[in-house]
Amino acid sequence: MDVISVIRTKRDRGELSDEQIDWVIDAYTRGEVADEQMSALAMAILLNGMNRSEIARWTAAMIASGERMDFSSLSRPTADKHSTGGVGDKITLPLAPLVAACGAVVPQLSGRGLGHTGGTLDKLESIPGWRALLSNEEMLSVLDGVGAVICAAGDGLAPADKKLYALRDVTGTVEAIPLIASSIMSKKIAEGTGSLVLDVKVGSGAFMKTIEDARELASTMVGLGTDHGVRTVALLTDMSTPLGLTAGNALEVRESVEVLAGGGPADVVELTLALAREMLDAAGLKDADPAKALADGSAMDVWRRMIAAQGGDPDAPLPTAREQHVVTASASGVLTRLDAYDVGVAAWRLGAGRARKEDPVQAGAGVELHAKPGDTVTEGQPLLTLHTDTPDRFAYALDAVAGSYDIAAPGTAFTAAPVVRE
Ligand code: URA
Repeated sequence: MDVISVIRTKRDRGELSDEQIDWVIDAYTRGEVADEQMSALAMAILLNGMNRSEIARWTAAMIASGERMDFSSLSRPTADKHSTGGVGDKITLPLAPLVAACGAVVPQLSGRGLGHTGGTLDKLESIPGWRALLSNEEMLSVLDGVGAVICAAGDGLAPADKKLYALRDVTGTVEAIPLIASSIMSKKIAEGTGSLVLDVKVGSGAFMKTIEDARELASTMVGLGTDHGVRTVALLTDMSTPLGLTAGNALEVRESVEVLAGGGPADVVELTLALAREMLDAAGLKDADPAKALADGSAMDVWRRMIAAQGGDPDAPLPTAREQHVVTASASGVLTRLDAYDVGVAAWRLGAGRARKEDPVQAGAGVELHAKPGDTVTEGQPLLTLHTDTPDRFAYALDAVAGSYDIAAPGTAFTAAPVVRE
């Protein structure tokens, strides 16, 4: 087999054969196919697409590139969720301990932020002492003892995706439904969960900007999961505005702890509970009551044990940024738009995210929101607070949020997009 013929097949809108797919994924993982050849193929896939059977084979080949985990020794059912990525999306933090408090085991292999979207591991690393890297044995032991673990995927899990995702990130080939679906599902299937809830984001701050694309991505991923024996369901959820009132690492941990303490912003609570119900249903725990587990402190108890089991101190003060800058409302009226993408870019530029994979992140950096779409605001009132340790970043972040909001005349009727779209 030679890689040029594989690239030509897709470049000329042909269908890749099973043999071509198996060979190219294996050869790329082993380093026999070069990055520039794989990026040409990824671009051809982005432009010309893949049919469902090509996507299924591509996913199976990525799973076969590494090891598969096995949770069958655990006595409780496993439940997992995956978000396709957004701004202020801290839901995994309260959700994993909440679902564990309701009786499931939650193995949450998570990632780091890149670009304008945040990463769960970066957020948790703002807790003093907390470790993202666990061996498979440590992960199983935390799951057994606590019921929930949030950690980095080991190098052995879908290594083809690890290489390909890093390559797509720097070659403008992330936003392809076949590549996103196979990337996410290869890791989730290799991880060995029994059930999976997909939180497919739609809106300016998401990879999928339209409901039609989000629907197509969701149905492709549900099909892949189901074919591999994983009970898989998907919710389409709004990412036109940030989730909650914070975007940034320690800022989002603080907000998540508020939710676990029974408070927190209404949209974060609503989405956490909606996803918890789906996860518990998919795990066969239909009678569990996640609202009660939030209210009675049992979810908070699992959170504290989960953080401590990974070396973190749940009582340690969270880091705060050294400098703040307040952005005020330019008029009085009804806030009708506060753009997720713009806020995400600002948080990233303030130091909450990284430009290259090896860059460090600032724990305290990010954006705090003082109003959400639908709220009435008064000219001059604080709308956003920007946080950073490096004040020379303010100008760059202010550029990002300059056109990020619209205020309509006082009294204008406006209904914000629902958190769960369908
Ligand atoms: N998350 C992933 O893991 N892979 C993608 O391709 C996009 C989002």
